[in-house]
Amino acid sequence: MKRDIISVLDMRDDLDEIIDLSIRLKKNRYQSYDSAMNKVLGMIFEKPSTRTRVSFETAIDQLGGHAIYLNPHDMQIGRGETISDTARVLSRFVDAIVYRAFSHANVVELAGNSDIPVINGLDDKEHPVQIVADYMTLLEKRRNLSGRKLAYVGDGNNMANSLILGGAILGVDVSVACPKGFEPDRKIVEEGIKIARETGCKIEVLNDPKAAVPGADAVYTDVWVSMGEESEKEKKEKIFKPFQVNQDLMDAAGDMALFLHCLPAHRGLEVTAQVMDGPRSVVFDQAENRMHTEKAILLTLLS
Ligand code: CP
Ligand code: NVA
Repeated sequence: MKRDIISVLDMRDDLDEIIDLSIRLKKNRYQSYDSAMNKVLGMIFEKPSTRTRVSFETAIDQLGGHAIYLNPHDMQIGRGETISDTARVLSRFVDAIVYRAFSHANVVELAGNSDIPVINGLDDKEHPVQIVADYMTLLEKRRNLSGRKLAYVGDGNNMANSLILGGAILGVDVSVACPKGFEPDRKIVEEGIKIARETGCKIEVLNDPKAAVPGADAVYTDVWVSMGEESEKEKKEKIFKPFQVNQDLMDAAGDMALFLHCLPAHRGLEVTAQVMDGPRSVVFDQAENRMHTEKAILLTLLS
């Protein structure tokens, strides 16, 4: 049976194994694998991407396969062909699909009509593949994950949702601080709390950054204005100003705190240049780990 990764919950049973595999694959970067040999990855991107696109393309190439980048504007989907017909047709050509979409419902629809694995490459609800690299990075820097704490400061967006679920599954405490009205998806928070009860960690959503960060192993932030929200830029930049990750907030986190960001970053908005380019920032290791984790995901789904 084919397996999709639409949500972090689709990795609930083996997220730790996928991270372990990523660490092994990182040690042997140019090795190809029979299960990926000549496999073709279709990549539909409705929104821009640097990391997700290049890391998946490089990953499948190095594993022994090949990627096709598909811009919806150049496809019939841009002229009204349905997602379900597109899914059925692509299933006859390629071996897996990465889909970056505006709407989570479209990812679900594409997956539901495909005979091949579909990987969510970011939508308005989740960014599941990103958090595999994020927690891998934390593991590399801290040697274990269980009992660690990640503080997410900023918008309760797709990243916040996926980090909550990933932390809950891996036994990492996740403290989220967002402005009132910008909290993460309520159902996801409830699900995270439920899972955290089983794995022995804590998920909390607060409205005060200084209350969220003390004792954190990592302070994480993301853009205030996600792709597709450009019209809210002015309003959000005002509201989110007190949620900037700056040296003062990193000091409140304590000496252990690393700085993480999924990127792209906006220095002077969600993070200061001092923190982003400072000694505690591991954002470029985190970005590199996208490729190693995507290899692990591809091998897991294609094997
Ligand atoms: N972090 C991330 O997904 O970056 P891209 O938008 O460049 O793919
Ligand atoms: N929340 C951001 C993540 C970018 C990788 C967005 O959706 O634009």
